[in-house]
Amino acid sequence: MHKVVWDMDPGIDDALALILALKSPEVQVLGITTVAGNASVEMTSANARRVLEYLNAGSIPVAMGAANPLNHPLEDALNHHGPDGLGNCDLPPPKVPLHPDKAWDFLARLVWDAPGEVALIATGPLTNVAYAFRRNPKLPELMARLVLMGGAYRLTPYGEGNRTLYAEFNIWQDPEAAHMVFNSGADIFAVGLDVTMDPAACLTSEHLGQIKTGHTPAAHLVAQLVEYQVKHHGCCRMHDPLALAMLLDVSLLDFKLARVEVVKGNDWNRGVTRILPSVGSHSIHVACAVDGPRFLELFLSRMLEK
Ligand code: BDR
Ligand code: CA
Repeated sequence: MHKVVWDMDPGIDDALALILALKSPEVQVLGITTVAGNASVEMTSANARRVLEYLNAGSIPVAMGAANPLNHPLEDALNHHGPDGLGNCDLPPPKVPLHPDKAWDFLARLVWDAPGEVALIATGPLTNVAYAFRRNPKLPELMARLVLMGGAYRLTPYGEGNRTLYAEFNIWQDPEAAHMVFNSGADIFAVGLDVTMDPAACLTSEHLGQIKTGHTPAAHLVAQLVEYQVKHHGCCRMHDPLALAMLLDVSLLDFKLARVEVVKGNDWNRGVTRILPSVGSHSIHVACAVDGPRFLELFLSRMLEK
């Protein structure tokens, strides 16, 4: 079983990933930290707790992090995720208070407490992770690994940008943080648009029909989240659940070892993740293929299970 600490910005697909994790014996979520990305950090912090409390997991602590990227103002994605960040679902506001620590201190402590045992999952902009690494330079080597959703690497026909022509949303939002994290020496597994935009790994209205036959609380919530995406965007992309998936069953994804340059700055190339010709120090594992049907089968069966 993987012990994980999870930095997220829920967001519909972050929420789908969290629900999948709570239904999966392969992972134990020790704590959650929240970052601004899809929505303000206040909203992402509320959304993480709304989901946890609904699924009787309110004992998992949530610590709030950065309200803004390191060098840029926040540009949220509420146009994609709905005005509450969760597709206007019927979850009530949270009751459990936030953990008193700042996200980066909380995250670092969970890793320090069990050196080499805790994996970090990051499914939002990497601002909190960058702060944690800056304050604790030994942290990258103390983590079991860092699994992140981010980047567009042009390794498949789907590996183009979604925020700009060339850049993926999480990396584009805070390229300075991503640059620091990608060069930190952590054992990174990057799951980017090359696999998450593969149509075979996307939930359609047919899958939604199957989810609606479920009578579990998870199925009830997932149906609302997926329905919002299908209605507004034609299908439901599974970006963040696919990052989690590598911890559930590593055979679902293929990875290629590569050295990646993250382009910082303000220009047209902000947030580009460029694969460099040679493998060298600070190479990372980049996802280059996914078994979409098998991933969706896993997701659906966990959602429909009692
Ligand atoms: C990523 O951007 C966010 O909108 C999603 O939650 C996901 O983490 C996909 O580019
Ligand atoms: Ca996300």
